[in-house]
Amino acid sequence: MRPARDSGVEESRERRGDDVGVIRVLIADESRIVNDNILRRLALEEDIVVCGSAADGESAVQEALWLRPDIAVVDAGLPGMDGGQTTEMLAQCLPGTGVIMMSMEAENDAYRLAMLAGAREFLQKPFRGDDLVAAVRRVHEFGQRRAVTAPPVAAPAEPEPAARPIDARGAVTAVIAGKGGIGKTVVAVNLAVALRTGQPRQVAVVDLSLQFGDVAATLALPTDHTISDLLVDSDAGDSDLVRQTLVAGPGGISVLLAPTTPDIAEYATATQLTRLIEVLRADFDHIVIDTPSYLTEPTMTAISLADHVLVVTDLSVPGIKNTRLVRGVLETLQVSPERVMVVANHRESAGELDGGGAETFLGVAIAADIPFDARVVATSVNKGVPFMISGPNTPQSAAISAIARAIDPAAHAVKSSAHPVRVHEKKKRPRRMPSFSR
Ligand SMILES: Nc1ncnc2c1ncn2[C@@H]1O[C@H](COP(=O)(O)OP(=O)(O)O)[C@@H](O)[C@H]1O
Ligand SMILES: [Mg+2]
Repeated sequence: MRPARDSGVEESRERRGDDVGVIRVLIADESRIVNDNILRRLALEEDIVVCGSAADGESAVQEALWLRPDIAVVDAGLPGMDGGQTTEMLAQCLPGTGVIMMSMEAENDAYRLAMLAGAREFLQKPFRGDDLVAAVRRVHEFGQRRAVTAPPVAAPAEPEPAARPIDARGAVTAVIAGKGGIGKTVVAVNLAVALRTGQPRQVAVVDLSLQFGDVAATLALPTDHTISDLLVDSDAGDSDLVRQTLVAGPGGISVLLAPTTPDIAEYATATQLTRLIEVLRADFDHIVIDTPSYLTEPTMTAISLADHVLVVTDLSVPGIKNTRLVRGVLETLQVSPERVMVVANHRESAGELDGGGAETFLGVAIAADIPFDARVVATSVNKGVPFMISGPNTPQSAAISAIARAIDPAAHAVKSSAHPVRVHEKKKRPRRMPSFSR
């Protein structure tokens, strides 16, 4: 459920024709009085429209993803996810939205933190309305100049309304998470092997972690051919070229590797990536997409194309907090809950919330648990052999097999009677938390 919007705030969700030339502003402050004061002051300007407001960080990000404002005016002391974290999320997810941070704090420290988080301007409270208006105009002008010089970035494709039958065209599974080092790559490559094991399925893994992809390292593959071959001066929708760029991986899977240098990522427009995935859908039964740690544009594109979204999380407090945020983003993108599976990858045995507590906080059932075991997982990563192959009878393989069967019921079961695996039936899923998006 989307947060309620204040009255006086423009209701439009999309940039309409009559919005051209208008600067659209989102305000995020815990205090309703501050929100209202800013709204009233900005309403005096003909070319500035307040398109939304929020009272906490999570709602601010959700609203911004929905409204795509030109400017977000964010208070440093937001409750929940604070202004710094909110600014960081906005800078990652919506580079077209310029953030102005406001704070009561002494200028030096607060200013430094704001700039580190990615804000473009800083206003110390209390400030004059004229100063705010001037800051809005400066940040907007800066954004306009950047838009002219930056490489074109297409809007992410519209979300698919429903999952597609697997036999018609390849099914896409996006593996995402709210932070790095959580096991996305480990899950993606092992899931690909599991989907292929013992059945005539064609499976591809795509490493969309375009700046620091580690599928090649995790599978010990050479990097002579990577997605760069398709993105730089090429057409990612050219099926012959895509076939030539795929690399043979373990267990009969095909792999499209990430570039070897981070700068190539800027060539990856949503349009190019969508064309690429469409080509792969014609050749493969399953396409598993590994994604970067932040909700960048490639991740958003992968989510919008995915039939299944696996959200990998640990059960630490920050891990669960970030996963809840990711769930909010999925909700905002209108990804139906049936397409989403939360997978707990246990990174440590100590300091974790218990499963029930995590589920209550998340408002969703955890679909599968992958136990922590450095001997199985780290050894497999270091040797470049997925544990689905090197340790088919381990609890980790049993968990991945169960996830594979939830995605494709025909997937081969690596049954391990010694390790019962918990994968919830579809009908047992989410207990919705009414207060999720506050
Ligand atoms: N269940 C686990 N047990 C033990 N180690 C794990 C487990 N899951 C992941 N790891 C370790 O964590 C590292 C990071 O995992 P990775 O999949 O690369 O994370 P991400 O792709 O999310 O950044 C792996 O190299 C592996 O050694
Ligand atoms: Mg990774």
